[in-house]
Amino acid sequence: MQIGTPLKKGATKIMLLGSGELGKEVVIEAQRLGVEVVAVDRYVDAPAMQVAHRCHVIDMLNAEELDRIVRQERPDFIVPEIEAINTQFLLKLEEEGFNVIPTARAANLTMNREGIRRLAAEELGLPTAAYRFASSLEEFHAGVAEIGLPCVVKPIMSSSGKGQSVLREEANIEKSWRYAMEGARGASDKVIIEEFIPFDYEITLLTVRSAQGTVFCPPIGHRQVDGDYHESWQPMGMTPPVLAESQRQAKLVTDALGGRGIFGVELFIKGEQVWFSEVSPRPHDTGMVTMISQNASEFELHVRAILGLPVPAVMNLAPSASHVILAEDAAQEVRFEGLVDALTVPGTKLRLFGKPDTRKNRRMGVVVTDGADTDEARAKAEQAAHAVRIVKA
Ligand SMILES: Nc1ncnc2c1ncn2[C@@H]1O[C@H](COP(=O)(O)OP(=O)(O)OP(=O)(O)O)[C@@H](O)[C@H]1O
Ligand SMILES: [Mg+2]
Repeated sequence: MQIGTPLKKGATKIMLLGSGELGKEVVIEAQRLGVEVVAVDRYVDAPAMQVAHRCHVIDMLNAEELDRIVRQERPDFIVPEIEAINTQFLLKLEEEGFNVIPTARAANLTMNREGIRRLAAEELGLPTAAYRFASSLEEFHAGVAEIGLPCVVKPIMSSSGKGQSVLREEANIEKSWRYAMEGARGASDKVIIEEFIPFDYEITLLTVRSAQGTVFCPPIGHRQVDGDYHESWQPMGMTPPVLAESQRQAKLVTDALGGRGIFGVELFIKGEQVWFSEVSPRPHDTGMVTMISQNASEFELHVRAILGLPVPAVMNLAPSASHVILAEDAAQEVRFEGLVDALTVPGTKLRLFGKPDTRKNRRMGVVVTDGADTDEARAKAEQAAHAVRIVKA
């Protein structure tokens, strides 16, 4: 394993497809190791672009545009940061010998809820919520009748809760269908109807596949609001058998996806029962807490695994929490106030992502905090995050 000199012929080069806040931290970790980084996204001045060596603004769903920049840059590693990428084209690049992280198949299967759900439930036999797929209103009615109410409806291609609803009454069936159609990414009109799991809690199990094998980070508890993450904490207290079952499921699914890098395995837990929900073959938003809780954050772990470097077997954990900072409405330019109050809360760190504009509920920053226990850390993270005010410039 060798690393070259950035901006020279022998540079070790990462191309990041998607340049959001998680990508920004990945870039910073890659920069620390002297890796040359090219950040790509569909809009200018995306967070990761601001810390990369170079950037490209393209439509990542367009194979020709991807082809052009990949030929131009010839990266050693192509690192998808979001789901909305032409993953068919990534499969072709991989066949040609490009290294897609963790694998092109992983990116392809996880960009679509049907791909990953069928792999997990039907091929690997993991317990999941019962599910049906529907491509028309008629099929939707039939699927809802089979799954029963309440159920959870999601476009098969969407993220961050877009188009997602909990359907509780028959009267709302058509409303839920229309909402899914409006929230879907791309041209797909297919939805998944899932049994509603009344879980006690849900976790993200960060799972790292490195050249030396698989390691798990301590489980991260989190709370979602409208299908998007609002706060997370680590460790989530779990009994040893439930943690072991969670790790078993995470190992199975990440082995099936293969390659090197970090994965965020999302699981629901009720009593002793564990259900697999979904997996991100990349750092996870709820894992931002690892910027304070672990001696190597999920971003550092990802970069080390990508490069073939060892990752620590023990993460040296302090009880910690994260809390998001959301915009209230749309603006072309904003200023952040209340920062002194936020950082006066002991043990807090602040990340402002530098997004060029806002829209309602857009994630603009995060607070991470440690504490004597996770309850204290959560309370401090909330207090600090709520101290930050976003005002129009
Ligand atoms: N079958 C289910 N039963 C109960 N709650 C569910 C179910 N499916 C999803 N949820 C809730 O909705 C949240 C978001 O669902 P999911 O992770 O499938 O969507 P997502 O749009 O990919 O979200 P993200 O991109 O933020 O991870 C889950 O974390 C969970 O809180
Ligand atoms: Mg999710």
